Amino acid sequence: MKTLLTKSPRKAAAYIKRSELVAFPTETVYGLGANVYDEKAIEKIFKFKKRPSDNPLIVHISNRQQIEILSESVPPIAKKLISRFFPGPLTIILKKNEIIPDTVTAGLDTIAIRMPSSKIARKFIEECGLPIAAPSANLSGSPSPTTYRHVLEDFKGKIPCILIGPEAKYGLESTVVDCTSGIPAVLRPGVVTLEQLRKVDRRIKLKKGGKLKSPGHSYRHYAPKAKVILSSPKPSPHMKETMTAYMGISAPRNKKTFSLVKQCSNAEDYAKNLFSFFRECDRKGIKIIYAQKVPEKGIGLAIMNRLRKASAR
Ligand code: TXA
Ligand code: MG
Repeated sequence: MKTLLTKSPRKAAAYIKRSELVAFPTETVYGLGANVYDEKAIEKIFKFKKRPSDNPLIVHISNRQQIEILSESVPPIAKKLISRFFPGPLTIILKKNEIIPDTVTAGLDTIAIRMPSSKIARKFIEECGLPIAAPSANLSGSPSPTTYRHVLEDFKGKIPCILIGPEAKYGLESTVVDCTSGIPAVLRPGVVTLEQLRKVDRRIKLKKGGKLKSPGHSYRHYAPKAKVILSSPKPSPHMKETMTAYMGISAPRNKKTFSLVKQCSNAEDYAKNLFSFFRECDRKGIKIIYAQKVPEKGIGLAIMNRLRKASAR
């Protein structure tokens, strides 16, 4: 299959109408989208990504009215989060409406909803005329794509269309917040920080241990082929603040040695470069990545969450 690269949201949307998959840019990472009501297309997402069927998808919308189609019950706290963070890198979990196929939500009675702030993403969803179910556009387990080239690495010749947009602004996924059971809980830390969420409601907690409510989030994930080793924060003489993060890398001794270092000016820069750095290492055949730990505050919480999953064996 030929993979069309287009900058036209309208051309890309035509594929969705034909039950095909389209990869599209967002401000977090690229998504692999399908018509939310089209079970055949949804099944293709799971098949192409090699994604376990128990891992539900996020449904992307282009306007707030679409929330009512997806869920009948929007509790007051969800309304507050929506008015503060939509459009943007926040995903909320609500009770789902019956019209939504079970394949989308992996059999759960809840649904994940996100309205991207990326203009081209919203234009694309608008052209489709319906909500778009989309996981990140990478093979299951591998680093999420932050440019269309990363999507090509995983899906060239396998999907018919990639909507080309800019490099992802944040480079890390959205924050997933469960709003279905009283006090909201963060199921996956992401770009919107816990500190920002707590300004809306002080009680918002980070979900730890217990029964995982974001099923696909439990195994090794976001991982390059290289082994990822977490190293302690060691501020280098060049860096003024201890918050400064860098990623260092080394290849095994006695072999032709590659060396690649990505030095980042702050945690946001680290987040933005993390996945693309992983992919660059894989392209160069690098075997070991040393990734510096960062304090678990602000976006640092999401960075450490991804690093732990990437380094799990
Ligand atoms: O930034 C993002 O969120 C990107 C872009 C494309 O929007 N999407 C993304 O999707 O990261 P994905 O499929 O890679 O991750 C979705 C996460 C998974 O951890 C999944 O388990 C969780 O959201 N999730 C989806 N529906 C859920 C539900 N009903 N209940 C709990 N967790 C859910
Ligand atoms: Mg993903």
